Amino acid sequence: MTYSIELVDRDQEIEAEEGQSVLQALLDSGIDWMHACGGFCNCTTCSIQVEEGMDNLSEMHQDEKNTLRRFEGEEVLDGPYRLGCQAEVQGDIKIKNPGWY
Ligand code: FES
Repeated sequence: MTYSIELVDRDQEIEAEEGQSVLQALLDSGIDWMHACGGFCNCTTCSIQVEEGMDNLSEMHQDEKNTLRRFEGEEVLDGPYRLGCQAEVQGDIKIKNPGWY
């Protein structure tokens, strides 16, 4: 199954395989997206801001919560943010870069 990822701040849309991480889908599509730790849940440079379809991403695990909290603060967990390397695509989503870096 293939889903779409719309990058609302770039006016671009790409495809992602079900279960693929958002980061991998972005990189596979030739999009230059920061991922300083290499996708190991140990930075927040790969973060995405989810504009639509938060429920179409895999559940957030404790490691991802810890990393987001450690780098960006507790309140970020209440926002529409995910680590691109940890969030797996399960439906269509619309995202943008949160602009933290
Ligand atoms: S690339 Fe570092 S947490 Fe995703």
